[in-house]
Amino acid sequence: MSNEFDVLVLPGDGIGPEVTAEAVRVLEWFADRRKLPAKLTEGELGAATYKRLGTIISDKTQAALGTADLILFGAMGDPVYDGLSPAERRKGSLLTIRKSLGLFANVRPIRALAPLASASTLRPEVIEGVDMIVLRELTGGVYFGQPRGITTLPDGRRRGLDTQVYDSDEIERIARFAFELARTRRNRVCSVEKSNVMESGKLWRAVVTELHEREFSDVALSHMYADNAAMQLVRNPRQFDVMVTDNLFGDVLSDCAAMITGSLGMLPSASLGAPRADGRRPALYEPIHGSAPDIAGQGIANPLGAILSVAMALRHSMVLPQEADLLEHAVGAALAAGARTADLAERDVKPLDTKGMGDAVLAALERAA
Ligand code: IPM
Ligand code: MG
Repeated sequence: MSNEFDVLVLPGDGIGPEVTAEAVRVLEWFADRRKLPAKLTEGELGAATYKRLGTIISDKTQAALGTADLILFGAMGDPVYDGLSPAERRKGSLLTIRKSLGLFANVRPIRALAPLASASTLRPEVIEGVDMIVLRELTGGVYFGQPRGITTLPDGRRRGLDTQVYDSDEIERIARFAFELARTRRNRVCSVEKSNVMESGKLWRAVVTELHEREFSDVALSHMYADNAAMQLVRNPRQFDVMVTDNLFGDVLSDCAAMITGSLGMLPSASLGAPRADGRRPALYEPIHGSAPDIAGQGIANPLGAILSVAMALRHSMVLPQEADLLEHAVGAALAAGARTADLAERDVKPLDTKGMGDAVLAALERAA
């Protein structure tokens, strides 16, 4: 196995290219200054690729997906996709990439950073000290379940159908991931479903409980209904360590939890698959904010979600926890020194642009290294 990390960079759409450019500068700093053995290749994916090639993803990039050690992803989402056939849209879509690489575990850390306490819509005493992970199952459930579609009934009414479905092995592997992750943290797992009204939720709770009894009884396990979990996230988020949940609930609850940090723009994520023969997991790192077409092209987006995604790549794919800590501390130091993009800035502060925030993090890295 080569020691070099093959990094596929997919900036994508909207603010994706702007924030990814800053993440790449940070990764290049580690390659240059810390001798990180990373080889970066930029792939062709998104609306611009569609306009040029008539397909959302080029064949070369499609092939590179399967061989890359990790993917740095920006964002996807563009009005161009509205005009495409379902098949055209599926090829190269984020959901297809997640599914085809088997990226079943989506790790979304939520940490309240002291300098941003007043940027959150929640009161400082509610968010102080929050350090939790929303672990979202990413390749199953209602976003993928069959049958699905929109049909016309004999009486002319239309019906939209989605299927929420989970098999026991899918639940068990994400639960296992949750317990193992908790053991590296505060050793607590809260499993979230709606077993009071959903069959898939009943199975979810049973499988999580069985695995816990069999292999992870040292981890403190609790269960919560998803509606209550939404309420508890804004009532008392400090109670959580690892929250494990399905694809749909995880999508919703992670956006909700994001406000603890002050801005959706702050949040990184890792999407991981099962280890391959060489021990490396297929992995995709992306900020969770999406393409944000309303501010795209202006150079004002917050790049910290993308930059913190690089820290997650250092931690999870490259297994360099000290380098990951270095980067996370540099982000904290830049914020403590007053660096703010528009989404974080208070009224009387002149915000930095995207590149300015990248500069602030790089300067903090230089100071710390
Ligand atoms: C996310 C996003 C995606 C999802 C969209 C863009 C398909 O909201 O990563 O949370 O729903 O998974
Ligand atoms: Mg989402």
